[in-house]
Amino acid sequence: MTDFSKNWLELREPLDRRSRSNELIKTLSIVLPDRPIHVIDLGTGTGSNLRYLCKELKGNQIWQLIDNDENLLKTIPAYTKKWAIKNKLLVKELGNEFLIKGENIECHAYIQQKNLSDLTDIKIPEKALVSCSALLDLVSKNWIKTLAKKCMRIKATILFTLNYDGHIKFKPCEEDDKLVRSLINKHQLKNKGFGNAMGPKAEHMAVQVFSEIGYNIRSKYSNWKIKSNDNELQTMLLDMWLDAAIEGSPEQKNRLKNWRKKRQYHVISKNSELEIGHTDILGWISK
Ligand SMILES: C[S@@+](CC[C@H](N)C(=O)[O-])C[C@H]1O[C@@H](n2cnc3c(N)ncnc32)[C@H](O)[C@@H]1O
Repeated sequence: MTDFSKNWLELREPLDRRSRSNELIKTLSIVLPDRPIHVIDLGTGTGSNLRYLCKELKGNQIWQLIDNDENLLKTIPAYTKKWAIKNKLLVKELGNEFLIKGENIECHAYIQQKNLSDLTDIKIPEKALVSCSALLDLVSKNWIKTLAKKCMRIKATILFTLNYDGHIKFKPCEEDDKLVRSLINKHQLKNKGFGNAMGPKAEHMAVQVFSEIGYNIRSKYSNWKIKSNDNELQTMLLDMWLDAAIEGSPEQKNRLKNWRKKRQYHVISKNSELEIGHTDILGWISK
């Protein structure tokens, strides 16, 4: 379940957008310091966090979009231009930088290729907003502790969204849903390049780590509610889940493939709905 292909990220972007907690965004606009806002987006992928958040934040913004995947980073300007047209915004590209401009927004974005497994030389400007979406379940508790110390030092605000929490509701149910869910959650804990991953415990651990060092924390559900007409996304999820489950229990391959077949039948019949647990976390230091 670690597909970072641009197809997958493109497919999930609208679902992410409609799942994120609006309530936390309202609080964010109250607790953020003065403009310009400097945003660091960790594990930016194709830049979907920027496309969601810059419109919500409005005003003057400077974004640093960081990821280690060159191919994903290359897609950001084109994807952002396409999105800008729909949102009546202008995008001006200058190599690895671009400017998004509109009536109430001026956003300078800088694309940066970097491996984030080691945070030592990641520079975070004073009072920045440190953000990531769909990244936290990949990282380890030590990694989050290191990030927390860095954030505390410069009184950063944090917004970590779409953290998978281990819950998957299948409708209609199949006998082996529970088995597959437990294999997926076990797979989530494997090392994804940042030490042993927090997986479904990510939200809980991050809240604990940041609270302990003095952060005010709010967290809200941002569950994915996947409708029966979302065939492509559901099919891709089933493929990823099957791979993860077989990796965890190769001796049950046939049983797991049979589960996939039954679930895919519900998808094709437009009868399958899924709810996948996620949470968003906002944190800040009181003035
Ligand atoms: C699930 S994707 C989320 C992408 C994006 N934030 C979004 O919401 O669409 C996780 C991202 O983390 C990036 N990533 C994984 N390991 C990384 C590492 N060691 N350094 C930097 N980025 C990494 C991947 O390339 C991918 O873009």
